[in-house]
Amino acid sequence: MTHVRKAVFPIAGMGTRFLPATKSVPKEMLPLVDKPLIQYALDEAREAGIEEFIFVTAAGKGALEDYFDTARALEQQLRDNGKTSALEALEQTNLPEGSLSFVRQKHPRGLGHAVSLAHRLVGNEPFAVLLPDDVISAPKGALSQMVDAHAQTGGHMVATMRVAPDQTGSYGVIDPEASVGRIIKARGMVEKPCPEEAPSTQAVVGRYILEPSIFDRLAHINPGVGGELQLTDAICADVGTTPVAGYQFDGERFDCGSVQGFVQATAAFALARTDLELELSEFLSGRIKSHPLAA
Ligand code: G1P
Repeated sequence: MTHVRKAVFPIAGMGTRFLPATKSVPKEMLPLVDKPLIQYALDEAREAGIEEFIFVTAAGKGALEDYFDTARALEQQLRDNGKTSALEALEQTNLPEGSLSFVRQKHPRGLGHAVSLAHRLVGNEPFAVLLPDDVISAPKGALSQMVDAHAQTGGHMVATMRVAPDQTGSYGVIDPEASVGRIIKARGMVEKPCPEEAPSTQAVVGRYILEPSIFDRLAHINPGVGGELQLTDAICADVGTTPVAGYQFDGERFDCGSVQGFVQATAAFALARTDLELELSEFLSGRIKSHPLAA
């Protein structure tokens, strides 16, 4: 089984739910506590052994390119002032030279279209896709868990989690055939089905390991839900030719594409930090006690 070395990060979305913040700052640069969203996805990818990082961006995302560049003057200043912990924090953004590429998506034609633009850079090998809006807190990174499982199964693999039946319209949903442990063999997938038409409540979360056959499917599918080229449809079109599996990861997912999810993630990640936990929990419990909705 080929080692998964490359990851695609589709980050061309406009982030309109976060306006006005996203008027001049890409959504992926909004900080969850003190790290931008993109850093969480990047750390998860690195933990999973990814060596090449392909970002599908769009106009107005220039700050992301700068984020991964070296900041020589800043580093020197921190060194001169003996600010070692700040220097260490900067170190996280350092990726080996030549390991990053940026592709532009000129028109917002959907997730499937964004992934198809990475074809030339991915080439003919299995690769990961991470949607940075989906932040997953887990003892072992969700993508690492999937890479291990994929080494056994091959084929296309999507991260899944169970959602409430009335939530299926917000996700890709898999049509399960059989399951063994955390792996669900799928016989199909539907993008954003209404609850009456959903084949299950196993929803796709933004982590994928895909075989290169997906590019041929992406080149031939028609626009789906919302008039966009859907990655879900391309995966579904490969059922019968390439094995398709859902992987029920161990971890907690936050929908940082919504303001509510972003705020919850901020609280959860801050409470998980030993330097912030105590004061923040005292502050929050004080607020909650005096809130009109408190029992
Ligand atoms: C995308 C995918 C969907 C998946 C979701 C996970 O939808 O199309 O299948 O369930 O990400 O976050 P989006 O949320 O971008 O509309």
